[in-house]
Amino acid sequence: MKSIASAPGKIILFGEHFVVHGTPAILAAINKRVTVTSTFTENKTIKVNSELGTLDVPISSSYKEAKSKFRPFVYLANKMINSNQNANGLEIEINSDIPVGVGLGSSSACCVAAAASIYGLFKELSSEEILKMSIEAEKTIFPDTSGADCTVCIYGGMIEYPNVKKIDNTFDLNLLIANSMIPHNTKNSVEKVNKFKENDEERFSQLCDLETKLIDEVITAMKNNDATTFGLKMSENQKYLEEIQVSNDTLRDMISSLKEISLGTKITGAGDGGCVIALVKDENVSKVPALLPKYKECFSAKIDTKGMTRELVEWKREK
Ligand code: MEV
Repeated sequence: MKSIASAPGKIILFGEHFVVHGTPAILAAINKRVTVTSTFTENKTIKVNSELGTLDVPISSSYKEAKSKFRPFVYLANKMINSNQNANGLEIEINSDIPVGVGLGSSSACCVAAAASIYGLFKELSSEEILKMSIEAEKTIFPDTSGADCTVCIYGGMIEYPNVKKIDNTFDLNLLIANSMIPHNTKNSVEKVNKFKENDEERFSQLCDLETKLIDEVITAMKNNDATTFGLKMSENQKYLEEIQVSNDTLRDMISSLKEISLGTKITGAGDGGCVIALVKDENVSKVPALLPKYKECFSAKIDTKGMTRELVEWKREK
């Protein structure tokens, strides 16, 4: 038997970083996916094959001994093997078209698809159970995760977090993603924001209140089909992200280059590199590549409505 699961990447439209400290956020799943395929093996090992490398370790080894990128897989595989007496070993294959380390949810999509695929070999878990497992797995690399990224990868579409509500986007969001090609480390950026908070609790608390108010206004703007206000709120959110110091000169340059043709532009995800998103009117989409330096990747974000998918396929390993 093969257990195949896939999950989409994501963008954060509003509320990154502040969401780690309890404020709401709005996220959307995007049409780039990771697929994880799991099969039982007879040898007592956990094997992971991915474009980023391979791993082959005894089933008794701890996830803490693995390189960070493999930890969630070893954690999930161990947990399953320990609770299933018939399992000897596991082979896990990962295929992805989500760019890695640039804030598009590659690691949370991997955790979701891996939890669904590995557990799918043993029993059928509910989406809520898979979410719980995937957040546990994500915590092996990023202990402070808010859980927002895994949540949108499971349910797909556009959601409000933490009180998970699907949002129907009533107007056509023409969102562009521009990749600064600077990899970032979410854990480090989140720790930097923790330091900002420690140094100025009062201002940070004001910013959290402002972010909560902004998200209420965005929800109203969406109900009113008001793309102009939606864009203005993106730029306002960017000011809060600048203040907590997760931006840099490259991101600021990209945002300012896109200013004249977008209704709003901001970082998406942890910042300090990664991607920016811009809300662009139809007639301006073709102007975007000329405004950005050639080496920056840029594409249109289509919202994924499927979320996580999973299937079991009859299959026998060739001897
Ligand atoms: C990372 O994609 C988003 C952050 O808000 C962290 C989190 O929510 O766990 C920076």
